[in-house]
Amino acid sequence: MDQVREHPLSEPGHSTSEFRISVVGLGKRYGDLQVFEDVNLDVGDSEIVSIVGPSGCGKTTLLRCIDGLIDYNAGEVLIEGDRVTEPREGVAMVFQHFGLFPWKSVYSNVAYGLELAGAKKSEIREKVPHFIELVGLKGFEDRYPYELSGGMQQRCGFARALATEPSVLLMDEPFGAIDAQTREILQFELLRIWGMNRTSMVFVTHSIEEAVLMGDRVVILKGRPSTVSDIITIDLERPRTRETLLMPRFSELKEQVWSTLVDDVMRAEYVLSDN
Ligand SMILES: Nc1ncnc2c1ncn2[C@@H]1O[C@H](COP(=O)(O)OP(=O)(O)OP(=O)(O)O)[C@@H](O)[C@H]1O
Ligand SMILES: [Mg+2]
Repeated sequence: MDQVREHPLSEPGHSTSEFRISVVGLGKRYGDLQVFEDVNLDVGDSEIVSIVGPSGCGKTTLLRCIDGLIDYNAGEVLIEGDRVTEPREGVAMVFQHFGLFPWKSVYSNVAYGLELAGAKKSEIREKVPHFIELVGLKGFEDRYPYELSGGMQQRCGFARALATEPSVLLMDEPFGAIDAQTREILQFELLRIWGMNRTSMVFVTHSIEEAVLMGDRVVILKGRPSTVSDIITIDLERPRTRETLLMPRFSELKEQVWSTLVDDVMRAEYVLSDN
């Protein structure tokens, strides 16, 4: 791309082509419902951008637009400079409710993404066990989703997404349906795995604590229709560990996101700490 674009929430002098993902003036309507409008958002290589916003503001819809699963009405989504019009290789999504096939074993669920991408059988035989081990599911290859705990199902969801070695990972509240202890373990597991092969990640969550822990920046979607109201830079060092949670700066940033996001109407929906 040779054209330099600038939009209000870009840093001055940056062109969208410097980013792995660029969302430019994006608008999405369902019938009469304008879900969001003029959404501008860049995600760099190796960057994690967290997105928070009230229920129904369009977080899942935005991820689906980035994934190419649904069309948008205004603006555009660019991945590595190319306009997204349909699902493409190199982009993987992890869903809140795990999104596993109940009739497929752990092995077959993990293999599925690779099969879809046209991987050779030999490649599948090599990669699937590797990623199953990486997420801690070795020994459970033949189990079916109903035989697994929620945390194990989500580990399987991670393995399926990671096995395709995506350059973009889209996470839609991946820990939303998991108990607090497992959630904390998986947060750090995910950070560890991400640290091994840093991809660009968009991480949607309802938890302010989780948004700050995971993100290099936290994007706040607000309003009706919603739009990006603020972007807060998270200047906490990586790797982030359990000690990060105890840092005064962590509390300050949580407070900053909280006070930016929450008004009286939203207050009931958010908790500062999930535990
Ligand atoms: N396929 C669809 N057809 C019509 N309206 C839809 C469709 N999908 C979502 N919507 C509407 O778009 C709005 C945004 O939905 P979306 O699921 O993106 O919100 P969200 O921010 O992800 O919410 P939550 O935090 O509860 O997951 C909602 O009002 C929803 O009812
Ligand atoms: Mg959602």
